[in-house]
Amino acid sequence: MFYATARLCRVCWSATFAEQEKPAQDPTALYNLSYGLFVLSARESGKDNGCIANTCFQVANDPTKLVISVQKGNLTREMIERSGAFNVSVLTESVPFETIRNFGMQSGRDTDKLAGFETKRSYNGLVYLTEHTNAMFSCKVLERIDLGSHVLLVGEVTQSKVLGKEPSCTYAYYHKAIKPKF
Ligand SMILES: Cc1cc2nc3c(=O)[nH]c(=O)nc-3n(C[C@H](O)[C@H](O)[C@H](O)COP(=O)(O)O)c2cc1C
Repeated sequence: MFYATARLCRVCWSATFAEQEKPAQDPTALYNLSYGLFVLSARESGKDNGCIANTCFQVANDPTKLVISVQKGNLTREMIERSGAFNVSVLTESVPFETIRNFGMQSGRDTDKLAGFETKRSYNGLVYLTEHTNAMFSCKVLERIDLGSHVLLVGEVTQSKVLGKEPSCTYAYYHKAIKPKF
């Protein structure tokens, strides 16, 4: 009886504590989430600007809504919040690293990022990219959620268009095939 009870206690103890995983965080687990790659664009006081984002998702339909997550320090985020509108250009696998560098690794505060890129204007007056893209969306900002480092913006889609048939560039494809390896 004593031995049976002791054994039961040992089994319970190990199931409750010893085999429990520690709540550590492995940052590389984030690499296994799947994302696309986009240029978010905005316009304010006659100035166009845009930045690279890997976070853009459809979160509702009828009406269709997208969310984007933008860093607080980005000029594009400021312009979107002040103007209440943004465009999303969906990048394709042929996108050169120079496009990622231009939109994603410098700020529109220091340079005209749209200079030299093939663009069109959508009905809302904002630009979208017509090269190395396969779709565009125009959105009107409906809601804002402060996430600390980033702001989550929910936008209602006011216009959308398919621009090509090439596969969308995923964040994983960018890391595997586009980002230079030093
Ligand atoms: C691959 C990649 C993914 C990025 N994803 C995001 C993102 O999801 N959200 C964001 O706000 N910035 C993202 N960035 C950073 C912005 O594109 C970057 O800060 C940009 O220079 C901001 O420019 P701006 O100040 O003209 O808006 C990403 C950059 C790269 C290279």
